[in-house]
Amino acid sequence: MVSVATPSSYGSPPVDPRVLYPRLDWSRELYVLGIESTAHTFGVGVASTRPPYILSSARSVYRPEKGGIHPREAAAHHARVAPEVLRAALDAAGLRIGDIDAVAVALGPGLGPALRVGATVARGLAAYFRKPLVPVNHALAHVEIGRLYTGLVDPLVLYVSGGNTMVTAFAKGRYRVFGETLDVALGNLLDTFAREAGLAPPYVVEGLHVVDRCALEADEPADLPYTVKGMDVSYSGLLTAALRLWRRLGPRERPRVCLGLREVAYSEAVEVAERGAAHTGKPGVLLTGGVAASPVLRERVAAMAEARGLPWGVPPLHLCGDNGAMIAWVGLLNYMAGITVEPGEAVVKQRWRLDSVDVPWR
Ligand code: FE2
Repeated sequence: MVSVATPSSYGSPPVDPRVLYPRLDWSRELYVLGIESTAHTFGVGVASTRPPYILSSARSVYRPEKGGIHPREAAAHHARVAPEVLRAALDAAGLRIGDIDAVAVALGPGLGPALRVGATVARGLAAYFRKPLVPVNHALAHVEIGRLYTGLVDPLVLYVSGGNTMVTAFAKGRYRVFGETLDVALGNLLDTFAREAGLAPPYVVEGLHVVDRCALEADEPADLPYTVKGMDVSYSGLLTAALRLWRRLGPRERPRVCLGLREVAYSEAVEVAERGAAHTGKPGVLLTGGVAASPVLRERVAAMAEARGLPWGVPPLHLCGDNGAMIAWVGLLNYMAGITVEPGEAVVKQRWRLDSVDVPWR
């Protein structure tokens, strides 16, 4: 199933990007198509130098029948839906491929087989229609789509998703990673627990995870191990302990495990974010990534930021999870800064770290 979003469905509009990116030349009218395929989502979006800046975002999400995400099945899904998602994104933007100035693609980090589908589609489009090809780092896209919609000029960023958990901020030409997970990511922790505990899908409804929903039935949290090492968090011991306790308890006691799990997991992430905010002195806090859709995590980040007297923000719900629009947006910025790649050299980078990416337009 392909879902399509247009700017009117996002809620808050983006801010004027000339404030965020004064180094770039905003006088030219440009349109960039972005392709996302790093994990379970195949998404295509269109971004422009003209309002509303994000013109469309279409996507189809691979849902495994059982178990976790299977990279080759995800890739097969992406290949199957690619033409339909591409057409939906262009139609919603009111454009044809000929109107597009450049094709951007997320080359990493992510799952190899899934990444290669997006890269192949992008290389094909760029080569056949003679468009420049623009490489985009997926993590950078999560951060920048957050800045565009919140207007936070220089925030401390807590980026939490199925595959990533990190605290980052910009300094001297790059985003620096101040803390991250030492093992599994926050989203992966919640999904794996839900699956192993046998909680019924869908795992996320209106941003609320099934673990959050289960936690509503508990009066007090179960005692579970809390592991923060310096600026890094660790979730694998928490996952093991939570599952062990879940199997030992009866059905009426089990919601306490959900409550304990999410309290520890969210607290660890917010603790390192708070320390990051204190160390860097950044004037705001941005929460982004798929798990940023969680109303419970939003409350925690809001409370932390407010206690420090800092503004905070989160992208519109549709743009928290993986999407092509954020790839199109950073693709547009990269393209304006002259960052392109020859189709033959556009290879995927499964472990492409955010802190290895030069960001000349900031
Ligand atoms: Fe993501």
